[in-house]
Amino acid sequence: MSTILRTSRLTKRYGGKTVVSDVNMTIIPGDIYGFLGQNGAGKTTTLRMIMGLIHPSSGEVELFGKPLHGNKGEAMERIGAIIEYPGFYLNLNAADNLEIHRRLMGMGNRESIDDALAAVGLLDAKHQKVKQYSLGMKQRLGIARALLHHPELLILDEPTNGLDPVGMKEMRQLFLELVRKRGITFLISSHLLSEIEQLSNKIGIIHKGRMLEEIDYESLQRKTRHYLDIKVTDEKKAAFILEQKLGTTDYVVAGSGGLRLYEHLDEPDRVSLLLAEGGVGIKEMVLSGDSLEEYFLKLTGGDKFA
Ligand SMILES: Nc1ncnc2c1ncn2[C@@H]1O[C@H](COP(=O)(O)OP(=O)(O)OP(=O)(O)O)[C@@H](O)[C@H]1O
Ligand SMILES: [Mg+2]
Repeated sequence: MSTILRTSRLTKRYGGKTVVSDVNMTIIPGDIYGFLGQNGAGKTTTLRMIMGLIHPSSGEVELFGKPLHGNKGEAMERIGAIIEYPGFYLNLNAADNLEIHRRLMGMGNRESIDDALAAVGLLDAKHQKVKQYSLGMKQRLGIARALLHHPELLILDEPTNGLDPVGMKEMRQLFLELVRKRGITFLISSHLLSEIEQLSNKIGIIHKGRMLEEIDYESLQRKTRHYLDIKVTDEKKAAFILEQKLGTTDYVVAGSGGLRLYEHLDEPDRVSLLLAEGGVGIKEMVLSGDSLEEYFLKLTGGDKFA
């Protein structure tokens, strides 16, 4: 399958300190890739290497199937980004700000400005001075600016930082809309687990410069499902009863007399009664499974995400 981005063993050292270490990440078209990590984990440094703003100490970046090295110009034409806080001329209106940027970068035409403003829901506010914009509007304007040249990949470094919950939700909706309507692929960093969870179809977790895990959302959901952990005298018979009497196939045989039942979590009494009636002895039955947060805590060795 074609990839939008692939990094291999991407590493950055400053002085003697390794701040990004052997990071592998893969993004395919249509992904909303959530790059999750605490403050200082190495998110911005990684994104800067991907954008060619700083050189890796070792490792490679491949964009749209080609090495970044030697193809940077072409790659950047296909990428829009907000890595640093987007600066604007506060005394000018939104449309003029975008026009200045457009001319500086020598791209698109005047219509592309209205198009970009419409995409982020700011068309009605285009004549308003940016100093009157709220933080959320400024963030949107930053995204409009990044959209001007019709990029295929948007790289956004903590785009919802400082926004209130409503602003965050609007931002999430905007991203989903851009994926749906324009087929844009996203790489979004955040230190907020809840935000990444609500938005991303793929999550990369960076901790102290290392990628701890890269996982798609469905696999993560499966890993963080709760279940009844049942220890029985005869697991085959127990499985038969679960299917025939309880009418479920949503269980797995975990071996050595153990079963994990993912349904009927609130009816352990009924489950045990049916098993007992079928002649299966129950040695133990407990509700188990990690919440998403617990799962991440285990990954990081106890360091919390916000
Ligand atoms: N130019 C630099 N020189 C030396 N150290 C640096 C430099 N840039 C970043 N670092 C260090 O690299 C580490 C990772 O920083 P980075 O900004 O990539 O983290 P981050 O995940 O983006 O954090 P935050 O959530 O705070 O933005 C930090 O310890 C930081 O101090
Ligand atoms: Mg950062």
